[in-house]
Amino acid sequence: MSTQSHTIIAPSLLAANFCRVGEAVQTIHDSGADWIHLDIMDGSFVPNITFGKKMVADVAAITNLPLDVHLMIENPEQHIRDFIDAGAAFITLHVEATVHAHRAIMLIRDAGIGAGLAIVPSTPVSALEEMMPELDMALVMSVNPGFGGQTLIPLCLDKLRRLKELRSHKGTSTLISVDGGINSQNAAAVRAAGADILVCGSAFFNAADPCAEVGLLRGTTQKTV
Ligand code: DX5
Ligand code: ZN
Repeated sequence: MSTQSHTIIAPSLLAANFCRVGEAVQTIHDSGADWIHLDIMDGSFVPNITFGKKMVADVAAITNLPLDVHLMIENPEQHIRDFIDAGAAFITLHVEATVHAHRAIMLIRDAGIGAGLAIVPSTPVSALEEMMPELDMALVMSVNPGFGGQTLIPLCLDKLRRLKELRSHKGTSTLISVDGGINSQNAAAVRAAGADILVCGSAFFNAADPCAEVGLLRGTTQKTV
C-alpha cells in the first residue's frame, strides 16, 4: 500500500525448530518483526507437508502479532473456515489451487479478515487481474513453493514491478508480498521492485542477530563490516 510507513517483515515459522515453536514466536517478537507467516502444505499442491489449524490456534494463543496464513493446499475453500476460527489475520490461497478463487476470497472477506491470492513463479501476474479489487494482499512466490531455504528466482522481480503497475492501474490498496529466498542481500531489490511485505524464513532464523536482520530487510539499517 502506498501509505505503508515501512516494509512489513513476516518471518516464516517453517524455518523454526518445530520442537521450540514458542521460543521462535518469542524471537519474532523480540526482533521487532511485524507479522508471523505460517506455511500450510498438504503434500499434494506442494510436495511437502507441514502443519494445520491447531498450530495456527496454538500460536494465536501466545501472540498478538497478526498471523499471515499461507495455504499451499488443494481445495482451499474447504479449509478456510478452520483457519479463520484458528485466529488468522490474513489468509492467502493460491490461484492455481482452485477454479473458485472468487468464492474462497469472499469467504475470507466475509469473516472480516484479510484476503490474499498467491501466484507461483510460472503463473503470470495477469492471473490476479480480475480479483485485485477484492484483495488485501497479492503474494508473488519467488521460489517454487514447498520448501524453505531455496534461492530467489530472478524473474520474480519483474513480476513484482508488473504487479505494482497493475495495482496502480486498478487503483486498489492491495499489499504486495514476496515469499521465498528473501535475505538481506536481495531485500533492497525486492523492495524497489514493489514489495510491501517480505516473508523470510531461513535468513531470519539463521541470522546471528534477528533484530539486526529485520532492520536490514526493511532497509532501515545498513550492514556494517
Ligand atoms: C515456501 C514458503 C515460504 C518459506 C520461505 O514454500 O511459502 O514461506 O517459508 O522460506 P525461505 O525464506 O527460507 O525461502
Ligand atoms: Zn509462505
